[in-house]
Amino acid sequence: MKEFLLQHLICPSCLPKENSLAVKVQKIDRHCNNDILSGELHCLKCKRDFPIKNGIANLQVNQDVRGIRYEDPDMVDRYLLSHYSDLLDSTELISEPFFWDSLLETNRSLSFDAGCSVGRLVFEMANKSSWAVGCDLSESFISTARNLMNSRRYKFSLPLEGKLRETFDVNLPDSWRTDNAEFIVADAQYLPFRRETFQQVSSLNLLDRVPYPLAHLYEMNRVVSQKNASFLFADPYSWLTSPAPEERWLGGSTTGNYAGRGKDIVRELLQGKGSILMPAWQIEESGRHKWTLRTHRNHIELVYSDFMVAKR
Ligand SMILES: C[S@@+](CC[C@H](N)C(=O)[O-])C[C@H]1O[C@@H](n2cnc3c(N)ncnc32)[C@H](O)[C@@H]1O
Repeated sequence: MKEFLLQHLICPSCLPKENSLAVKVQKIDRHCNNDILSGELHCLKCKRDFPIKNGIANLQVNQDVRGIRYEDPDMVDRYLLSHYSDLLDSTELISEPFFWDSLLETNRSLSFDAGCSVGRLVFEMANKSSWAVGCDLSESFISTARNLMNSRRYKFSLPLEGKLRETFDVNLPDSWRTDNAEFIVADAQYLPFRRETFQQVSSLNLLDRVPYPLAHLYEMNRVVSQKNASFLFADPYSWLTSPAPEERWLGGSTTGNYAGRGKDIVRELLQGKGSILMPAWQIEESGRHKWTLRTHRNHIELVYSDFMVAKR
């Protein structure tokens, strides 16, 4: 974890109190952006320690909770293809230009992507900001994103058919900065950042995956500036009872406080309904975007996400 992040971190276990963390460094790479390779982040108030191992800071409140479905190696490879297909040399692939960066603001100082998976949006943010950070619950995703950040290339493979596999090689363009990007393991419902740290935040395809969707929105709202800020939000609203019971869904239900369509409910919450996400946001742009996840060459899942760009 790069040293520049330290001043912005707080103890996620002490929330809503924002208590600082002290660092105990065991190994640091002074030649590579002051990357702390191993050590601990220690909360002086609650006395909890959060490990830094192989450069990855793990700031999860509950260290046992894992993005289980996302730890599967094939899932990492599927997301690599989904995020970086436009940077591969394969002639056969249906490669789509990456879409979400077109909705980012330029010249933001600090940017954050929650549920960043293998990191494409964070690299795009880093190229438009002073620095950018992504968090994800899956250590496999964060470790892959950090590998790509450090080596600027990554080889992976996906099933072609049966046991045959097809290999791919991602190369980040020379013009991209990665020295100002970072990735940590953290829960998007208990963010380990001080309030108003960021000027730009995003949450893509995450809301319907977390146990407390409203807590996730609340946390995103807390860590972003109250003025001159932007929030890129998207979700397919694939509500399932496995991550969250129906009473916690923000949409997709016929009864309760949040009955109706998710995209309308999230829009109203951002616009200040119930005074939960304050100061209120204005929705500047909205739409629907389709993206894919490939299982094998002839089987590709198509997902539509409703998105909005909110500003305040
Ligand atoms: C559907 S994927 C979307 C990934 C990426 N944002 C994208 O749009 O390509 C959901 C991501 O959220 C992560 N995730 C799930 N629950 C999370 C949580 N509570 N906190 C942080 N990340 C989480 C998963 O590991 C996975 O990377």
